[in-house]
Amino acid sequence: MPEAQIKLYYKNATSEVIGTKHGITNAKLDKLADKTSKLILKLNEERKAGKTPYRDLPYNKQAVQQVKNLVTKLKNRCENLVVLGIGGSVFGNIALQTALNPYMHNLDDTQRDGPRLFVFDNIDPDQLSSFLDWLDKSLKNTIFNVISKSGRTAETASQFLIIRKLLYKRLGSANYKKQVVATTDPTDGTLRKIANKDKLNCLEVPKGVGGRFSVLSAVGLFSAAICGIDIDALLQGARSMDKKVSRKDFYKNPAAINAAINYHFYNHGKKISVMMPYSSHLKDLADWYRQLWAESLGKAEDLKGNKVHIGPTPVKALGATDQHSQVQLYCEGPNDKSFTFLQVRNFHKDLKIGPAPHRAPELSFLARENLSKLFNSEKQATEYALLQDKRPCLTILFPEVNAYTVGQFIYLFEVTTSFAGALFNINTYNQPAIEQIKVAISALMGKSGYYKPKKTYKSLAHKIRTLTKIDRKFLV
Ligand code: PA5
Repeated sequence: MPEAQIKLYYKNATSEVIGTKHGITNAKLDKLADKTSKLILKLNEERKAGKTPYRDLPYNKQAVQQVKNLVTKLKNRCENLVVLGIGGSVFGNIALQTALNPYMHNLDDTQRDGPRLFVFDNIDPDQLSSFLDWLDKSLKNTIFNVISKSGRTAETASQFLIIRKLLYKRLGSANYKKQVVATTDPTDGTLRKIANKDKLNCLEVPKGVGGRFSVLSAVGLFSAAICGIDIDALLQGARSMDKKVSRKDFYKNPAAINAAINYHFYNHGKKISVMMPYSSHLKDLADWYRQLWAESLGKAEDLKGNKVHIGPTPVKALGATDQHSQVQLYCEGPNDKSFTFLQVRNFHKDLKIGPAPHRAPELSFLARENLSKLFNSEKQATEYALLQDKRPCLTILFPEVNAYTVGQFIYLFEVTTSFAGALFNINTYNQPAIEQIKVAISALMGKSGYYKPKKTYKSLAHKIRTLTKIDRKFLV
């Protein structure tokens, strides 16, 4: 096991540092330890009973082999990989690419080992048209990876149908299927049906694994592997974190502590949780976390069916950029947030700042210093300011950003989410509001649906239009 382990640092969330009004006391943490320790056993049992199959993804050798085989088959003729999907189906892909490949991956051939990567997680016609105009000549050397567990998600399905038509028209039906990889349910769903009929290359979203918990399956692994990311190290990192987050001792289990502290702050007036990486490589992991946390924990009902309307609001910020945007509010605005910084000890490369010109001696504090020193000092300065204002701060320390530590981070936050869901006593793995919107979209598009009878659709569409119709009286 490589030495480089990520660590959770939580002293700056305690009363020792920010006082008893805002910080968590030892007594409260001990109480939470009692409550959460029971949940450690519960989660470990649920896993054994096969109820949380995402926990076993890092051990799925067969899935990894399938991904690798497909990468070998396609990599030579793949200049561009275009991923189509939305929500949990693609946040992880974007996060892995940003974290583990160079910033100039798409623009500089010498900085990449694999195709350019484009991820389309929206359906803005201007954006897609502009991209397809650019892609025009290299269509033959482009692989499209459509990712949808259900295959019925309107955004992904519409993108796919546009691409399918384009490939048919430009390359013919025989070539169309060579250009597409469908990542979907192993047996069911609309995309599976199309993929089987069209004889597409296929990868699987394992049964029982929801989109936002799927990045360590073929969903995230294929685009990562073909773009040169070391998926073995990624999964190894996840496995090493699995050992830690399965520990029965609360104080040795980083996911249990992380969840318990977040739960405590939610119940003590801090309903917003900000994740703020001081690393541009890690910024999309904060985006991935935001979706994981929001969709998993924002629920109307608890497990007993009581109305609870619960859930912390995750916010992503980026250091140092957002010091000049959000941090004024974070320090002096309402004390209703907890903070999780992501901090990197060793950057892959460093830059020395130049000497200060004679006429600007006021810049000598920067002169000849490493940029990484300034970056980490900015994190410390921001944390210091927040602590002065009694705002609780956690830090995830990355010895460096690599596939192994990113794998650890992903697994840590997935299991933290499971613990938080258990503490809130909600169903972490469903998303009823999203499903409701999916139905509403079908109704508005005027199609008789597969979800509900035709009549229900018509009246639903009518209801939505009435409610959202522009009333000119209120237009100014
Ligand atoms: O995390 C989730 O479960 C969701 O965000 C889904 O990934 C998203 O709604 C897309 O669903 P599908 O993969 O069925 O297209």
